[in-house]
Amino acid sequence: MNRFLFVLGSNWQLSLAELDNVLKNSQFKGRIIDYSANVAIVEFESLHNEIHYVNNLMELQYILGGIQKIGEIYDFIDIQTINQAFPWKVDNYKKVESIRQKIIESLSSNLLRIFRRVKNENIFFAVSIYPNLFDEDYYSQVLIKHFLPFLNKEISHLIKEKGGKKVSYYKYPDKYIKSGHLNPIFPHHLITYGLFNEDRAEIIFGFTEEGVYIARTFTADDPNFKKKIDEERPFKEFKSSISPKLAIIMLNFLNLFEKREKCSILDPFVGNGTFLLFAIVEDFRVFGTDIDEEKVQNTMRNVNWLYNELEEKVPLFLEDHFKTIAINRVSTVFNESFFDGICTEPELGPFFTEKPYFSEVNDLFEEILKPMYEATFRECYKLLKSKKRLCIIAPIISTVDGGDLQLDIELIAKNNGFNLIPLMDIERIVNKSNIRLQFRKEQVRALIDARKDQIIKRKLYLFEKLD
Ligand SMILES: C[S@@+](CC[C@H](N)C(=O)[O-])C[C@H]1O[C@@H](n2cnc3c(N)ncnc32)[C@H](O)[C@@H]1O
Repeated sequence: MNRFLFVLGSNWQLSLAELDNVLKNSQFKGRIIDYSANVAIVEFESLHNEIHYVNNLMELQYILGGIQKIGEIYDFIDIQTINQAFPWKVDNYKKVESIRQKIIESLSSNLLRIFRRVKNENIFFAVSIYPNLFDEDYYSQVLIKHFLPFLNKEISHLIKEKGGKKVSYYKYPDKYIKSGHLNPIFPHHLITYGLFNEDRAEIIFGFTEEGVYIARTFTADDPNFKKKIDEERPFKEFKSSISPKLAIIMLNFLNLFEKREKCSILDPFVGNGTFLLFAIVEDFRVFGTDIDEEKVQNTMRNVNWLYNELEEKVPLFLEDHFKTIAINRVSTVFNESFFDGICTEPELGPFFTEKPYFSEVNDLFEEILKPMYEATFRECYKLLKSKKRLCIIAPIISTVDGGDLQLDIELIAKNNGFNLIPLMDIERIVNKSNIRLQFRKEQVRALIDARKDQIIKRKLYLFEKLD
């Protein structure tokens, strides 16, 4: 079938937007042909024709910030068949049995593609079910309680029937099955359980509104590697830092996929250097500035530490890449039109522990944040090459008496020669009937990365410098 299943990160809209952008603009050309809040189904133009396509999938996994796992799809069962085989309540047991038989046949014909060899082997498998949405009752009441045990039993049975010497499977803790809150296997467990070996596999059952895709996992994110960089770097500040995932996603929106080692990236509010550290991991040349001398020193130490950890040579004259300077003068310390991309998170306001009042936030916006964002766009315009991109975070602040407040970033950008690029090209995405899964034009102009109860929420914008 040559389709691949991508397991999306927790901010699934952002993960989908990142994936679609990479499939549209990188060398890995393809299209998302179906999706849910947990998985995207991808058809590539040519990747699957190459002999070592698994290596390409690994490279793609490494590039993407928002993807947890990638698997190859072996079959698809439409949603009517699933609903008839696993109804809310069984009225006609015979009918249910005969439809379940169809699912067993599909599993039977695909087992040898999943494991290659079964006869005389010791086989271990783990079933992961990704529903359309995790909070659906059909997931907690039917899929976990009936579909999962059915799959474990029938797959074990089929492996024995095909001559498997021994078969065992991953048993999820009972308490999660009973409560209906079950998380499929985490990416780092795939390595712990050896699930990339030939005789061991994670079999994914990924649901969309259309049906279920059956896939075998080939690659998974290595969160421990990113966590190590995030947590073990010499200087960090947890309460304010962006996550490694978000940093990588934002870097990908810059649309620089070729010869990254020649692309110069700037963060003019560098702080402890989160963007730049992950930009190094993703192969870019990095530059950073900040008004705070200590932060610039911290970033330089973090950057040196990372090159050491990666066992890479520290670039010559690296210290010239970092300057202590306020945003309104950044263009004085670098050449005009020098940068291929800018990724940044300016100051978002004080760390509120309680919701502020409208007037307090209004003053903060008028006196501090608006002038700072205006300076950012003005300076970035001078520093960026023409048609290159700026990916930037702006705050949404919840107030006690005035709702959610935000700056008119689009207007500031427009006044300074930037064009807004929507984060998702909705022409390229299929329509969904569930309103929670739909994308509307207005909604994709910028996406939010935050929990519902956060006082300051991060909003992600993408702009391109006009000629
Ligand atoms: C939200 S933090 C950036 C955090 C960074 N992304 C990180 O991972 O550490 C904002 C940074 O902007 C700097 N800053 C504040 N006002 C500035 C200004 N006017 N010009 C330049 N930098 C400024 C602060 O010193 C702080 O390090």
